Amino acid sequence: MDAAAAASERWWKAAVVYQIYPRSFMDSDGDGVGDLRGVTARLDHLQALGIDVIWLCPHFDSPGADNGYDIRDYRKVLAAFGTMADFDAMLTAMTARGMRLIIDLVVNHTSDEHAWFRQSRRAKADPRRDFYIWRDGKDGGAPNNWPAIFGGSAWTLDDASGQYYLHLFTPQQPDLNWDNRQVRQEVYDLMRFWLDKGVSGFRMDVIAFISKPPGLPDLAPDQLAHPERAYACGPRLHAFLQEMNREVLRLYDGMTVGEAFGVSPEQSQQLTDERRGELDMAFDFALVDLEPSQWTLPQFKAIIGRQDRLAGVHGWNAAFLGNHDQPRAVSHFGDDDPAWRMASAKTLATVLLTLRGTPFIYQGEEIAMANAPFDSIEDFDDVWAKTLWREQVQSGRQSAEAVLERLRRTGRDNARTPMQWSATPNGGFSTGKPWLRVNPDYAHVNVEAQARDEGSVLAHYRRLIALRRAEPALVYGAFEDIDPSHPDLFVYTRRLPNKAFLIAANFSRRAQTYVPPPGATPTTVALSSAASAPSAAPPICLEGWRSVIFEIRA
Ligand code: GLC
Repeated sequence: MDAAAAASERWWKAAVVYQIYPRSFMDSDGDGVGDLRGVTARLDHLQALGIDVIWLCPHFDSPGADNGYDIRDYRKVLAAFGTMADFDAMLTAMTARGMRLIIDLVVNHTSDEHAWFRQSRRAKADPRRDFYIWRDGKDGGAPNNWPAIFGGSAWTLDDASGQYYLHLFTPQQPDLNWDNRQVRQEVYDLMRFWLDKGVSGFRMDVIAFISKPPGLPDLAPDQLAHPERAYACGPRLHAFLQEMNREVLRLYDGMTVGEAFGVSPEQSQQLTDERRGELDMAFDFALVDLEPSQWTLPQFKAIIGRQDRLAGVHGWNAAFLGNHDQPRAVSHFGDDDPAWRMASAKTLATVLLTLRGTPFIYQGEEIAMANAPFDSIEDFDDVWAKTLWREQVQSGRQSAEAVLERLRRTGRDNARTPMQWSATPNGGFSTGKPWLRVNPDYAHVNVEAQARDEGSVLAHYRRLIALRRAEPALVYGAFEDIDPSHPDLFVYTRRLPNKAFLIAANFSRRAQTYVPPPGATPTTVALSSAASAPSAAPPICLEGWRSVIFEIRA
């Protein structure tokens, strides 16, 4: 407890972050694609929720090979999303509401249509050649055996020069060469451009991949199943991030959160140790990597316990249960059966908002949006889904049904179906034809209906965020899991010297009773996920998928 109490106070530790996937948030002009004016139009919703920081997924000019994670011009807004004036108006409107904005920094790679890459591929002697990673082939094939994350080789042959370029994602996303100092200066420049405009920091896309191992050696056979682990944390990663801090970040009071894809928990601890001056927070993938419907609650709790221990006094966690690359949180970790969907979404919210770490809410989570009923591969848009289909089904390796089943459970488009605002056509997202089909359950699962209902998931989120804002113990208090092996209950305390809470969450359909240990006896109910709060007197009785926050004696 002393350890946590000693963690330094920073504005972003007390913040609640909301992630917007702009393509699917709100379409203001009826072209079927969400846009920045749409975001501005819906800020009241986020303000009523109590959001402090918005993370906006890429809004930059892009040919869209990976929905904007392939940037053609870092200083231009994607035309389908609007103009720079729309961006400025959006930022002004956020600031007026007391909200900050962080944007996506995608600098492991650019689009192959970025001017740098067009110059780079023009000639071996071009001054920009070395901005990317070019190699001669080996034995009539690619320079090494590296697979791309979405499938296929990580190398593409460029006919003009006869050399291959490296792309850890799609061929349209060539990797930048961070060993080139000029590349780094260009990146720092574009970061300053947005910080000077008033953004408050960055979510850093696959940031652990920026330093490549010297000589680009082949992966060993046992590394091929998880190439991201081999690509992450190259020898100069820490040095690059420290340089980025010295040259840019420390001059602004911003926040950074790195996508720690492929990074081990211990490496992630290093990246976020405040004494090292690298990242403020990192998204650790251990929780979301738990296999849907196979995971157990003790595994889930062990991961959270480990994250908390590793954060210790000098680190800080980013808490999240979903994002634009994951299935929906309620389908992954809750119970999306209609009878349990709302109760389980509330309990996941109770946990997310009471962990020691900055909570990140993904759009739609606050109304319990669930995985979508995809009928066929035609219903998917995602480049990963399409690559998987090509590589597995069209080549005859796996049956169509097996791959569809996997995509329904884990596909990224589950999180990308449009936001469900109301029961009007297309869930009020667009008056045109949405770029991705709206989940048909919008008729009964939508913001408008939940905003009117005090018993809704949305109302529970609002109350939780207000409570977290009012209670420093829920932000900075020490975390202790008091029963790590309980198969159905997650019971933990959050303590500051002057105030303490006990959180009890039932992750099962069965009613549970629980007697808390001495020293954690509830005095009053601070917040319950159900209208009928259980009594504070032990034993604690929890209906299926219910959760309660009790005050306990400090
Ligand atoms: C990150 C993004 C993902 C994207 C990939 C390549 O994982 O979250 O959406 O496809 O990086 O940029």
